Amino acid sequence: MASKYQAPRGTFDVLPEQGRARSRLEGAAAAIFARAGYEPVATPSFEDTDLFVRGVGRSTDIVTKEMFTFEDKGGRSLTLRPEGTAPICRAYLEHGMHKLAQPVKLCYAGPFFRHERPQAGRYRQFHQLGIECIGTDSPLADAEAIMLLSELLGELGVPGVQLRLGSLGSLEARREYLEELKAHLRAHEGELSKEVRERIDLNPLRAFDSDDEGTRGVMTTAPTIVGRLAGEDVEHFAEVRALLDAAGIAYEIDPTLVRGLDYYTRTIFSFVCDALGAQSEVGGGGRYDGLIEQLGGPPTPAVGWAAGIERILLALDEEEESAERDAFVAIADEGQRRRAMALTTELRRAGLSAEVDLGGRGLKGQLKHADRIGARRVLILEADGSAQLRDMQSGEQRAVHTGNLIEEMTGGDS
Ligand code: HAM
Repeated sequence: MASKYQAPRGTFDVLPEQGRARSRLEGAAAAIFARAGYEPVATPSFEDTDLFVRGVGRSTDIVTKEMFTFEDKGGRSLTLRPEGTAPICRAYLEHGMHKLAQPVKLCYAGPFFRHERPQAGRYRQFHQLGIECIGTDSPLADAEAIMLLSELLGELGVPGVQLRLGSLGSLEARREYLEELKAHLRAHEGELSKEVRERIDLNPLRAFDSDDEGTRGVMTTAPTIVGRLAGEDVEHFAEVRALLDAAGIAYEIDPTLVRGLDYYTRTIFSFVCDALGAQSEVGGGGRYDGLIEQLGGPPTPAVGWAAGIERILLALDEEEESAERDAFVAIADEGQRRRAMALTTELRRAGLSAEVDLGGRGLKGQLKHADRIGARRVLILEADGSAQLRDMQSGEQRAVHTGNLIEEMTGGDS
């Protein structure tokens, strides 16, 4: 029976078949982060609007077009978080984490919200997982961050992944470069799209992202920042590359790489996957050495990334996983109901996945259900207190003592 309500535009429900793949992904990420010493944190789903305006940047698409902003009953302007880096930096400052041993290495996963035009791989509520390494400008931290995302995508088996790497230079170098870029854009104003023309002063870097033919032509001769890096910026970028080379991570330098958030400095990177079509970026990030100061804190260099959970799952395009259970405890007689529950609990405590019938089915119905949920074995409790263990694959059945049930269940497995 269809309900008259549907999930809001640009959102989706995660159904059990998809939930299993999702949990596996989150589990793999959590294990990789834990092994590298990144501690899990969580921040609220909404924040002061101003945090994103200042943090992400007034002229970005996210701030100008995509925020879900509302006023609370006290007249405060709040926004559903469109990204996680500014909130984590806010928490870092609010809780005095700058006084801890640096860097502070954090990881997170959760829902984010952007009012974008929905399409495959682009939603209004989506999920990211990511890391932030705050309080070091060492190129080792950039390389470690990139290596962890590479490892995650590799371990999950995401096909056709490419790493694009760029550098925006330090804040100062970037400022100088932006003046040069603006001059180039102004010199070719007539050939630019209206959108790019109107934002020459506000956000000239986004011209590199334009689909407009005229703009693309202008950008082929535009100065690139990678070509203008100087001094420590050059050394920093060279060291990040050397570390990636040493780790055997392939990348392509993309001098036109830009990102949709204003806070980046020096290293930026993007992992793309051909299989994804238009929304091809599975994850990306970079260094943001000026953000914490921008939010009112001390100068604090940092680097991190976020990956889109839905995009990774789309790229994997796996068959939906079917369920599996170690055991199902069936009863041939109602009198065995409590014992069945107790034995199921015992199996679960021993670390096995086990279910008992909650639907009041007869024995035949229970066996059918056990098959449906992928139970490998069914323990059948007979009316006289005896028990049978049936292997669902071979159909073999033998009498067992429930007194040493765990042994009976695990004994045959190597
Ligand atoms: P971002 O590039 O805006 O970066 O988002 C990171 C990832 O989130 C993207 O690569 C994409 O996979 C996914 N994503 C973004 N928007 C959507 C959407 N509408 N629907 C589905 N997936 C989406 C950040 O958010 C930065 N905070 C990353 C970062 C962390 N930089 C430094 N630290």
